Amino acid sequence: MEKIISLCKRRGFIFPGSDIYGGLANSWDYGPLGHALKQNIKKAWWKFFVQEREDMVPMDTAIIMNPKVWEASGHLQNFSDELVECKKCHQRFRADHLLEAEALKPEYDKAKVKTIADVKCPECGGGLTEPKKFNLMFKTFLGTTEDTSTVAYLRPETAAGMFTNFKNILDTTHRKLPFGIAQIGKCFRNEITPGNFIFRTREFEIGEFEYFINPKDWENIFEMWLGEIKRWWKDVMQVNMDNLVWHEIPDGERAHYSKRTVDVEYKYPFGIKELHGIAYRTDFDMSRHEAVSGKDLHYTDPITNEKFLPHVIEPTFGIDRMLLVALLEAYKEEETESAKGEKETRVVMKFPKKLAPVQVAILPLSKKDELAKVAKPLAAELRREFMVEYDETQSIGKRYRRQDEIGTPYCVTVDFDSLEDEKVTVRDRDTMAQDRVAIADLKDYLKEKFAE
Ligand code: GAP
Repeated sequence: MEKIISLCKRRGFIFPGSDIYGGLANSWDYGPLGHALKQNIKKAWWKFFVQEREDMVPMDTAIIMNPKVWEASGHLQNFSDELVECKKCHQRFRADHLLEAEALKPEYDKAKVKTIADVKCPECGGGLTEPKKFNLMFKTFLGTTEDTSTVAYLRPETAAGMFTNFKNILDTTHRKLPFGIAQIGKCFRNEITPGNFIFRTREFEIGEFEYFINPKDWENIFEMWLGEIKRWWKDVMQVNMDNLVWHEIPDGERAHYSKRTVDVEYKYPFGIKELHGIAYRTDFDMSRHEAVSGKDLHYTDPITNEKFLPHVIEPTFGIDRMLLVALLEAYKEEETESAKGEKETRVVMKFPKKLAPVQVAILPLSKKDELAKVAKPLAAELRREFMVEYDETQSIGKRYRRQDEIGTPYCVTVDFDSLEDEKVTVRDRDTMAQDRVAIADLKDYLKEKFAE
């Protein structure tokens, strides 16, 4: 993790938030490369789960909603974690995290550690207070007065905006079940113990969809989505599938309304933890919004005339966690030889080519004008198709090293021979093999490479 965090800062993927003011704990700013990587992941997610499907419609709903929404969803009553405080050093912890950490200790004895009362402060060994419920909703006030009538909340998930618009979508798009509503957006949770870089923060992005179904079909549709999610991780994110854990949440541990939930976990350097999830939420959400809003949210099947409250299967993805996984999967250290024949370690981010923040680097061998005259128009032309970086500083070796570290799949070198033969050298990030390609054919050559 330390190597990744340091590379992210050094190369401009992710900076500590509010950096020049000494930072703000657990807040992060995405720099030029981090922003590009995040955009590419979101675009790929959108293409895969929304654009390529006929049963999905997009939305972009408000972050601040009527507080009744959160009463209906249960967030105001139940969206809380149990908090304990050390009586000696006054640090605060999530009770479930302490119990989890306790269970991982080699000397762990199930008979001795039954509840949080059996655990000591991990920082100073002090005793802990009784657990207290701590609501994670971010509270704010609308307008100029701060009283109970103006209280509002920043959304903790994007789902509610899609449940509450179900009727609007039905009336305007005339969709038939099953269909889904999808969106990507910022969410806010006042986490007690954020940490592990961008894994748990207080503001983050979620991509999720609510897939509205007739309950009689739920088992097959759940399996269909599990299959699609596996395809997403294997084909688009190209992760090593052995690093994913498909955690079927057993009876008794699921939310009371869910008939099936699978947490997709990842083997992070800091342990196996949640990456994202998929839940069959029955008609819990629709029935709660119907009860609290007083609006009829039933659906009538146009063929059978059956009238029922739609049930929902909800796949949900943390965008920042997906980006963290993309970084972890991409990071490789390889033994190579320098131009002088010395052994050296090459750090290379082997992102899937389509997700790489820079796709093509144009590297003229020297800063001389005659090379720039060829290289600059070439970069301008390629920018129409690809994310291109132009770099003429430092030695070519150092420039390759930098491009490897930011995961650029192809480096194009313009040299003095290019002026004669109208060809350039294309270096492949993964194999380091070099191809001499005619400038006139370069765009098509690269297009083919990215289509592989
Ligand atoms: N609508 C369902 C829902 O919000 P969730 O498991 O609470 O489910 C969805 O959150 C996803 O958002 C998680 O699986 C995780 O990927 C991501 N996530 C949750 N809390 C987060 C946090 N504090 N920081 C970063 N990502 C978070």
